[in-house]
Amino acid sequence: MSRGSAVAAASVRVCFVCLGNICRSPTAEGVMKHLVQRAGLGERVAVESAGTADYHTGELPDRRARAAAQARGVALESRARQFVAGDFARLDYVLAMDEENERNLQRLAPDAEARAKVRLLRSFDAASPPGAPVPDPYYGGDDGFEQVLDLCEAACAGLLAELRREHRL
Ligand code: 4NP
Repeated sequence: MSRGSAVAAASVRVCFVCLGNICRSPTAEGVMKHLVQRAGLGERVAVESAGTADYHTGELPDRRARAAAQARGVALESRARQFVAGDFARLDYVLAMDEENERNLQRLAPDAEARAKVRLLRSFDAASPPGAPVPDPYYGGDDGFEQVLDLCEAACAGLLAELRREHRL
């Protein structure tokens, strides 16, 4: 057995991306981490999130997102950061919450290999129509945050199934 790398590098790296990185993508990150841990794949799948904008850099997720997630046993503990072009190289899946963020990520991608990593999160939910977004809950009421959780739970379950298939996890 080789020594010197006590913790093996994760097999797959996933980043969820929304606009501000304080509502939707931290929720998806928390839900996915929860599913990955429960599946015993915490060492194989690395999960993170980012925003296409830098409005909230350094902030914890929105209080409403944290409360709604906590009620489902999911802790949201990330700090907001802006997605940068250099992130593509170390990621396998870059999952946009809506088509506007998807377009912005495509524009930022340095080459075709990077562009191919960008997908809509809900494309992993077989029940979701093509192009369907995770709607931005920021300016709405608490029900928007419940909907974000519902959509993220469905899509992340599909994503985990795909990771298991594609990467033999
Ligand atoms: P998110 O939601 O993209 O899901 O994090 C938003 C958070 C902040 C703003 C917009 C959307 N904002 O305009 O500050």
